[in-house]
Amino acid sequence: MPTVTSKVCSDSVTLFHPTDKLKFPADFVFGAATAAYQIEGAIDVDGRGPSIWDTFSHTSGRIANGDTGDIACNHYHLWQQDLDILASLGVDAYRFSIAWPRIFPDSSGKVNKSGLGFYDRLIDGCLQRGIKIYPTLYHWDLPQWLYDRGGWRNRETADAFAHYASTVVKTLGDRIDALTTFNEPWCSSILGHLVGVHAPGERNIEHALQVIHGQHLAHGQAIQAIRAAHGQLPLGIVLNVQAIRPTTDSLADQQAVNRHHDFHNGLFLDALFRAEYPATVINELGKFLPQGWQNDLDTINQPLDFWGLNYYTPEYVTDESAKSTAFPHTRRTSLKHVDRTDIGWQIDPSALTELLLKLYKEYNLPPCYITENGAAFNNEPENGVVDDQQRINYLASHLEAVFSALSQGIHIKGYFAWSLLDNFEWAEGYSMRFGLVHVDYETQRRVLKNSAYWYRDLLSHNR
Ligand code: GCO
Repeated sequence: MPTVTSKVCSDSVTLFHPTDKLKFPADFVFGAATAAYQIEGAIDVDGRGPSIWDTFSHTSGRIANGDTGDIACNHYHLWQQDLDILASLGVDAYRFSIAWPRIFPDSSGKVNKSGLGFYDRLIDGCLQRGIKIYPTLYHWDLPQWLYDRGGWRNRETADAFAHYASTVVKTLGDRIDALTTFNEPWCSSILGHLVGVHAPGERNIEHALQVIHGQHLAHGQAIQAIRAAHGQLPLGIVLNVQAIRPTTDSLADQQAVNRHHDFHNGLFLDALFRAEYPATVINELGKFLPQGWQNDLDTINQPLDFWGLNYYTPEYVTDESAKSTAFPHTRRTSLKHVDRTDIGWQIDPSALTELLLKLYKEYNLPPCYITENGAAFNNEPENGVVDDQQRINYLASHLEAVFSALSQGIHIKGYFAWSLLDNFEWAEGYSMRFGLVHVDYETQRRVLKNSAYWYRDLLSHNR
């Protein structure tokens, strides 16, 4: 059984300088986040069926180094030691995702009780350790049998999702503290069906628009089904709303920012919180939405108790009206001479504060959690210590950005570091490490990084 190395870093290192300015409200929730396909492994254990990510990761050339989620962090079997690590950090809450293919593995429609049993044990394990439970129902692992029937483009998939949601809530709902339907529907629709770098690997604007709408419909139907089954459970959705900035201060680039926002943010925020789609998108791409989409908007626009923002980095765009035929007629640009993480994402915490202030000015939003924030730095253990000072600096500066938004009146209820463990980083495979805890994928040994100790000290200071 792999052991957990929690060798404390050298005494001379002062990991955190407690300062009054980072005193968060007493009820502020600090947590860490993971996702099923990225950490669980055990892809064919206890009745789990295949997902589109099993198919995609086993498709040659799709994932860096040919990596797959077959084993990942073997969390399905090592969950108790991982919860011990989580508890040792003193987190208030754990955000994880439930794997739909463990619950409904095939088209028989029969519930796989062994699949539910894993989450039953995991939730009890959190409760025994005094950790609150914040599950996500869909973190991209659509059961393959549903994709084979049209996936999110088939309205029956929305019905199946609502049934999955109510099944989970009827079994586990009384021990869950807050539940979200989708994680980043932008990724599963745009990256999965337009850009093609995520499962199922399609590159089709019509499919992408239909998937966006199909996921929204599934979200709305699931919220209704959950409320019918368990009226008290706080419900939300997690979005990676992009912090978009113009490459230059030209009017053309500012207009490009607006179009980019309509397509990459408005298609989600406007449907979920305004029961509409942006007019610019309808004008240019409305023909790709399913017939009668207008009739679904009230179902989609369900009142929510909270929403989750996943933030990593800003986006810079420039106008491409003259060249690009595809809406939103923009191109992403990359600034020079800026700090970046190992995955190449620019580090700019000010964009997080700016985004929160902008969104709460423009939309009537419920309170929010920062449901993911973190950085890829690929430090390896040296003599049992992982000196990931860059991750500490990233987390500290982004928590200051969160605190700044809080101080300006934005109702932020909590913050979840991405991620508890190094894990399967989708198309990057295991080449990018986001964890507070280092995972040796050969031995499955866990080593707490200096950032884990820093986060532990921050949480302790805040209490
Ligand atoms: C996301 C996903 C996570 C990623 C993380 C780093 O936000 O894309 O929720 O699964 O691993 O964001 O890319």
